[in-house]
Amino acid sequence: MGKVKTRFVCQSCGYESVRWMGRCPSCGEWNTLTEELSLPRSSFSLVPQGEARVLPVSRWEEERSDRISTGYGSLDNALGGGLVRGQVVLIAGEPGIGKSTLLLQVSDKLAKSGKVLYVSGEESGTQIALRAKRLGIDSDSLLIYPEVNLERITEVVKREEPSLLVLDSVQTVFSEKLESSAGSVSQVREVTYRITELCKEMGIPAFLVGQITKEGSIAGPKVLEHIVDTVLQFEGERFNFYRIVKVIKNRFGSTGEIAVFKMTDRGLEEVPEPSAFFISEKASAPGSVVFPHTEGSKPVLLEVQSLVIPALYTTPQRRTQGYDPNRLALILAVLEKEAKIFTRDADVFVNVAGGMSVREPAADLAVAMAVVSSKKEKQIPPDTVVFGEVGLAGEVRAVHFADVRLKEAKKFGFRRALVPSGVKIDIDGMDVIGVSHVSEAIEALF
Ligand SMILES: Nc1ncnc2c1ncn2[C@@H]1O[C@H](COP(=O)(O)OP(=O)(O)OP(=O)(O)O)[C@@H](O)[C@H]1O
Ligand SMILES: [Mg+2]
Repeated sequence: MGKVKTRFVCQSCGYESVRWMGRCPSCGEWNTLTEELSLPRSSFSLVPQGEARVLPVSRWEEERSDRISTGYGSLDNALGGGLVRGQVVLIAGEPGIGKSTLLLQVSDKLAKSGKVLYVSGEESGTQIALRAKRLGIDSDSLLIYPEVNLERITEVVKREEPSLLVLDSVQTVFSEKLESSAGSVSQVREVTYRITELCKEMGIPAFLVGQITKEGSIAGPKVLEHIVDTVLQFEGERFNFYRIVKVIKNRFGSTGEIAVFKMTDRGLEEVPEPSAFFISEKASAPGSVVFPHTEGSKPVLLEVQSLVIPALYTTPQRRTQGYDPNRLALILAVLEKEAKIFTRDADVFVNVAGGMSVREPAADLAVAMAVVSSKKEKQIPPDTVVFGEVGLAGEVRAVHFADVRLKEAKKFGFRRALVPSGVKIDIDGMDVIGVSHVSEAIEALF
């Protein structure tokens, strides 16, 4: 018998090598190369092969189909109007955040108009039935199928021809054709690819659940995100009751869109007006400011809080929740150099209330003003919103979606906005104050 050919595959990035190495030369991770059986490569192309289908672009248009509603208006909006036939959506989130709950509820809504196949590799049918009972779900057209074998799943999908497929989760399913164990890079890639191919072929939309690694990225290589059409990130504090679905990638709509849900004992409930929800408990004290956050078309008003107190230890602490601590360090340095606001002997805490995490630089000015407010022990007028990027020289830079942010602030009764000077937008009944430097912003507010 000929020697079986093997190769070593990096479980972090998918890099392949003929010999074992301690460190992956591609991504630099240690101890990530594991031995896997070499197999003829399947081509990762979702375009039907062989057929010569050369059509004018306008003719292709005709093959597009209507959007399918998930049953949740805000989720439909975030997806760009609902699901498209053959669309494969990867939904990733930390353990216990509510992925299975959300998908079971979406399945129930879609089961009202067709057959839904929910394949579970993580939980038994009984476990899912228990959850379904708690959520009040008992539809006869919602089929639960506990299975981890990809070949058998494929067969059942072909036989049942569901109008929605849910695979919970990609990491638990394996193909018989590969030697490596479920959850390995090759398996995850193969499963995602084959399911995607099947769904495209049959025109079925699908949700795939993706587990998340300790570092917070989707387990499996980047290639997974390339294969699917849409990537949703399911976020929120586990101990908090709200959850956010963020669109990270979308071939059928814009990214940065969000949908907000509330976790109750009856499952996830839509929060149609997230702004009202996030600012409902706003503190009226120094260190608190409202920041209109958006990375897409849907803005949310968030409360940014800061606490500046004399340092407890010789090394002052900088702690953040929902905000990048490195970015905070930068802002504190800028405040010190450019506005003579000294925090070097103080502990500084920054918290985005409600637990939502903000990554966009537009939050810089809001964070800076919250810090100054706490340091000076002077309250920022409660009818004011603040946004703008802060540069190293203390300059306030323009940010995206200024109009969307201002309109949302207006809608919720805010009458003043501190914004980058480049913003030339008039909003009726709103005092829009343009500033070009942090010191100017401090003067305007305090
Ligand atoms: N009896 C209950 N009452 C209220 N909430 C519950 C109840 N049981 C579970 N939950 C909520 O549902 C969450 C678990 O949801 P779910 O199983 O959908 O998460 P998941 O993201 O699929 O997790 P995993 O990655 O482990 O599969 C819990 O964290 C909890 O918030
Ligand atoms: Mg689950």
